Amino acid sequence: MPVTTSSASLLTIFGATGDLAQRMLLPSLYGLEADRLLPAGMNLLGTARSTLDEAGFRDAIATSIRTFVPEAQRDAAVLERLLARAHYQPASLDDDASMAALAARVHALRDGDVLYHLSTSPSFYVQACDALGRHGLNGPGTRVMLEKPIGHDLAEAIAINDGVTRTFDESQVYRVDHYLGKEGVQNLLALRFGNALFEPLWNARHIEHVQITVAETVGVEGRGDYYDGSGAIRDMLQNHMLQLLCLVAMEPPSQFEPTAVRNEKIKVLHALRPIGRNEVGAETVAGQYVAGAIAGKAVPGYVEELGRPSRTETFVALRAHIDNWRWSGVPFYLRTGKRMARRCSEIYLQFRAVPHSIFARAGASTQPNALLIKLQPDERIELQLMHKTPGLDRNGLRLSQVSLDLDLDEEFGNVRRRLAYERLYLDAIEGNGTLFVRRDETEAAWKWVDAILDGWACAGTPPRPYAAGTWGPNAALAMTERHGHSWRE
Ligand code: BG6
Repeated sequence: MPVTTSSASLLTIFGATGDLAQRMLLPSLYGLEADRLLPAGMNLLGTARSTLDEAGFRDAIATSIRTFVPEAQRDAAVLERLLARAHYQPASLDDDASMAALAARVHALRDGDVLYHLSTSPSFYVQACDALGRHGLNGPGTRVMLEKPIGHDLAEAIAINDGVTRTFDESQVYRVDHYLGKEGVQNLLALRFGNALFEPLWNARHIEHVQITVAETVGVEGRGDYYDGSGAIRDMLQNHMLQLLCLVAMEPPSQFEPTAVRNEKIKVLHALRPIGRNEVGAETVAGQYVAGAIAGKAVPGYVEELGRPSRTETFVALRAHIDNWRWSGVPFYLRTGKRMARRCSEIYLQFRAVPHSIFARAGASTQPNALLIKLQPDERIELQLMHKTPGLDRNGLRLSQVSLDLDLDEEFGNVRRRLAYERLYLDAIEGNGTLFVRRDETEAAWKWVDAILDGWACAGTPPRPYAAGTWGPNAALAMTERHGHSWRE
């Protein structure tokens, strides 16, 4: 039964001394504290195996803020306010006495709702929830945030979801996909559903194909052990990329509220045409970077970074189809990779050509319109239009493609861009699950991805090499060119 919520009086972070906490979670809490958005009196309880004392945890918070919050935003008074909320309790899931001590701490520090954030390996989620249940830390007024990936495949995802929902009702489970907390990603909804202009064109009759790219220049950055067991498809495509696809392709929800939005997203995932053993060869490309250069600087290949041989893909590109009325026949090209030519996350929608060109006899060619939605590193929206090239046209009329270009960083230059976790924390603290992923979404995404992984395993072909600093293997270009398309670069 859904549980009613009020703002959390205690946020308990498991894995509070880990990398994600240092880089993202603590700086996000600092950002919220700076604007006095954290509930008055809310405590922060860090827990991990590390036998830190409270002073040690407060030092770790101060170090995180010093290292990851830009200097211009740092303020000693804000840090003091955040530190005043902070407590630490070491605990280990396999030591029940330490969990009992943690439970006592939670009971002492809470004065209403509690939010638990499991910022640990997913392999601990069930054990952690079982322990929370055993010590009476679940029930009304509690909720739990889980980091991606939820498992390694569908079977594991089901096992985790079953395990977690033994302790918490689904309405109390907040599965994080930090892309949903990004300003640019939410703006996709505003663009689609806050404007009358696009919706009539947002379908197979007018859109010829769609590209979604999430390209990174970083390598595996010391996360080799995790990454090598995942690869690009599990690390990025199963979650972030498919969430972007859902937001681009879903029907308009009736409200901007959790159930309505998630009900529309799940329909997209269910309509994805399976890519299995017979299709993976033509519809997918896996790659792995070898040594190359990024921005003029030599970088090693993946296996050198990892220190052992590996067949894990660091790049994936594929051609997906959504089998429903809106998108019938429209290819969705998705690609993501590490060590690519430049960092960019963007969505590109190419419209169909004009049905008849009145300029053809005059020798002028037209190009199709396109809408480019750049999510990061810069946020901008470009609408590509045909325009007459200025002049007297003595040698015939010419047309050029020009962009209506909206630079959101410039437009909203005085507004600080929030870290994704600022919004996600605030929503979870307040009990709003709209930007979190529901169980059926994760499982539908895994089901689709599992078929591709099975196809790859069956084909047994290793990922194709690509030089670091490029746009991936040539086969990814060939995949689009076979269908008369080319990646936007
Ligand atoms: C994470 C992946 O979910 O997203 C990382 O595990 C990846 O491998 C990161 O680098 C990318 O996030 P962002 O916000 O930098 O685009």
